[in-house]
Amino acid sequence: MKALILFSSRDGQTRSIAAYIANSLKGTLECDVVNILSAHEVDLEKYDCIMIGASVRYGHYHPAVAKFIHQHLALLQQRPSAFFSVNLTARKPEKRSLQTNGYTRKFLMRSPWQPDLGAVFAGALRYPRYRWFDRVMIQLIMHMTGGETDSTKEIEYTDWEQVARFAQSFSQLSLNKAL
Ligand SMILES: Cc1cc2nc3c(=O)[nH]c(=O)nc-3n(C[C@H](O)[C@H](O)[C@H](O)COP(=O)(O)O)c2cc1C
Repeated sequence: MKALILFSSRDGQTRSIAAYIANSLKGTLECDVVNILSAHEVDLEKYDCIMIGASVRYGHYHPAVAKFIHQHLALLQQRPSAFFSVNLTARKPEKRSLQTNGYTRKFLMRSPWQPDLGAVFAGALRYPRYRWFDRVMIQLIMHMTGGETDSTKEIEYTDWEQVARFAQSFSQLSLNKAL
């Protein structure tokens, strides 16, 4: 079975998570990992199941995510599908579920696509890599929410075991639906 994992990533964490999922599914699902900005170059029909992963920046997913969903809604509804969100709010374990994380809750409320499976993963905080404005803004948000404010730090909050469990659920879902 072939799976397409589309990612929307600004600083690379969502891309790494997508690649990790593909890697952990080796031998079960044949996964192609593609940037959602290049999705138009892909023949979507050849995939048996589809996953979309996107990171949050200033409260929003990249507009390409909603655009893809609207353009390919019928296909997404026909195939086993999954969505995962990557954000820093989810560094707090109690904000790491579809209902307790405001970004996924709103996304699922508004989206015409209701994926079969969803997850929220904590992303990475990489102050030294941000440009000045973003660094100051993130510092401010971290200060307000009780997070790390030391701008020399790079911290990866992603729980890779959670990602691996999600990957397994996705392969089970895809294989079950194919039966
Ligand atoms: C400029 C900027 C804005 C961000 N805005 C948010 C936000 O509004 N809410 C949130 O929970 N995380 C926010 N984050 C954290 C990112 O979602 C997190 O760093 C994630 O790992 C980024 O994934 P990516 O590298 O795939 O883009 C922001 C990060 C940056 C750099």
